[in-house]
Amino acid sequence: MARLSIIVLVIMVLVLRTALSELCNPQDKQALLQIKKDLGNPTTLSSWLPNTDCCKPEWEGVSCDTDTKSYRVNILDLNGLSLTKPYPIPSSVGNLPYLGSLYISRMNNLVGSIPPSIAKLTKLGFIRISHTNVSGQIPNFLSQMKSLITIDFSYNALSGTLPPSLSSLPNLVGISLDGNRISGTIPGSFGSFPKHFTVLTLSRNRLTGNIPTTLAKLGLSFVDLSENMLEGDASVLFGANKNLRKIDLAKNLLAFDLGKISLRSKNLEGLDLRKNRIYGTLPKVLTSLKYLRTLNVSYNNLCGQIPQGGKLQRFSEYCYAHNKCLCGSPLPPCT
Ligand SMILES: *[C@@H]1O[C@H](CO)[C@@H](O)[C@H](O)[C@H]1NC(C)=O
Ligand SMILES: *[C@@H]1O[C@H](CO)[C@@H](O)[C@H](O)[C@H]1NC(C)=O
Repeated sequence: MARLSIIVLVIMVLVLRTALSELCNPQDKQALLQIKKDLGNPTTLSSWLPNTDCCKPEWEGVSCDTDTKSYRVNILDLNGLSLTKPYPIPSSVGNLPYLGSLYISRMNNLVGSIPPSIAKLTKLGFIRISHTNVSGQIPNFLSQMKSLITIDFSYNALSGTLPPSLSSLPNLVGISLDGNRISGTIPGSFGSFPKHFTVLTLSRNRLTGNIPTTLAKLGLSFVDLSENMLEGDASVLFGANKNLRKIDLAKNLLAFDLGKISLRSKNLEGLDLRKNRIYGTLPKVLTSLKYLRTLNVSYNNLCGQIPQGGKLQRFSEYCYAHNKCLCGSPLPPCT
């Protein structure tokens, strides 16, 4: 009998000690366990157990804030979970108020729209929902989440138009919305992104109309607007911008005089303009680009001699092919 009570006592002390030494905030744990349940208890999350510490590495995809020693959950990275049937993004993610990064990617069977509860995550800097079947609109409430630094919603089934209010986010550095079903025009307000905004990728959508001239105000480094139905002039993207490193405008309906662009960036590494209706000549300034690694201007209406020098002769003839009358190395000589 005495032996039994000693054993019971030892067990109680042990249980109490683990409970006291647990770093996980009880509210955070409750939210995480709800997320697990809302996703149908996927096997990848089998390590999320009520009687263990969510700040321990066993909790797949969960990190707690060790810097400030608040130990609140600040990163949730749900990648490649295999869901047994269709589930929406659990609205319980909104109950992790200290979340700085939310990554949800490559999840089969993830459907439905982006839940409004995400707006409660006022400390969120980085949000990624990518390679899922999440649909619906890009939510307007994002513009209230003033901590956001990057938004990556690439490769989902999002539709509707681009919310003009996104440009009011004061800390935003980049937006990636590639591979969705977004339609309409690029809002003129997108010219008022903050000074440090450098990445805009909207490829593989259904965007139409002209590229707004206001975008000339941005200091973009990476621009990808390829595979849309954009038309008209794209020269605004080259002019004022000294930081441009990569620009992909391939497979649109763009029509402008390439010979008239003023390219201010000396650091351009990639220029893809293939399959548009761009006319005029190739500007001489291209020969001064020391870091140019990729170039493709094929399938346009360009004409005249390819400027000789710099890196321009290192690209194959296929990068210049199918234009109106481009000539000179690597294409046959001008006559
Ligand atoms: C999205 O749904 C389509 C059609 O049901 C399916 O083929 C595709 O694999 C799904 N994608 C993801 C990432 O679940
Ligand atoms: C340039 O684009 C054309 C048309 O899409 C393609 O056939 C060619 O392979 C491309 N060249 C390079 C080097 O990528």
